[in-house]
Amino acid sequence: MNIKSPREIALMKEAGHINYIVHKEMEAFIKPGITTKELDDKIGSMVKELGGFPSCLGYEGFPNNACVSVNEEVVHGIGDHRKLKNGDIVKLDFTVRKKGYESDMTRTYIVGDASPEVKEFVDVCEKSMYEGIKQVKPGARIGDIGYAISEYAHKHGYSVIEDYVGHGIGTEMHEEPEVPNFGEKGRGMVLKEGMTLAIEPMLAMGQKEVKVLKNGWTAVTTDSSLSAHFEHTVAVTKNGYEILTGE
Ligand code: MF3
Ligand code: CO
Ligand code: CO
Repeated sequence: MNIKSPREIALMKEAGHINYIVHKEMEAFIKPGITTKELDDKIGSMVKELGGFPSCLGYEGFPNNACVSVNEEVVHGIGDHRKLKNGDIVKLDFTVRKKGYESDMTRTYIVGDASPEVKEFVDVCEKSMYEGIKQVKPGARIGDIGYAISEYAHKHGYSVIEDYVGHGIGTEMHEEPEVPNFGEKGRGMVLKEGMTLAIEPMLAMGQKEVKVLKNGWTAVTTDSSLSAHFEHTVAVTKNGYEILTGE
């Protein structure tokens, strides 16, 4: 079991704060006409300016600083010359490494203005993440997190992507245990103080099935429906949780 000391959690929070600041800065930067590669470049340079390393770069051969996934792209989008259009949604998912520790955070951004239906979908995805995070405390189980996320998403008529999951995180981007966005209450590993988890629901407006594009990375919904994704890195504390990718 991978339990982090208070010192290690403080280091992860340093990395996580960079993640948070860069996400905040991206809000104003995302506009119709900008390319997904420009977003990737901006993330890379800002993370480095703030003293971190964008550790997606080179991870299992990933070519960019960040995963930039548009509309029906679920995860692992690779920024290129594609220009964002008004009404698109774009997911920015990137990790920051600092002093040997990782943090992982994702947000879904609306480009310009979108329909009320799309705004509602993105909002439900973010709230489903917090429903999952609220379960975190010593004695709770991994299944409680996925159960809360999927109940909330299904209640609002969306599906939950099952092919990608959250994960433990620390000195490595991906550690044990897996944190699925579905599950049964009271099942799975028991959470203990000092565990650190990336909780990251990926929802689809249509069906949950995904396929990976020929680039070997980018997953898209097979029905081309929109997908949203939010992610925070959290620590299990004595009484509950602490979000490490925050202010
Ligand atoms: N940040 C992703 C996650 O949430 C993983 C990125 S894969 C990489 O787990 F190849 F881009 F690093
Ligand atoms: Co991530
Ligand atoms: Co993650």
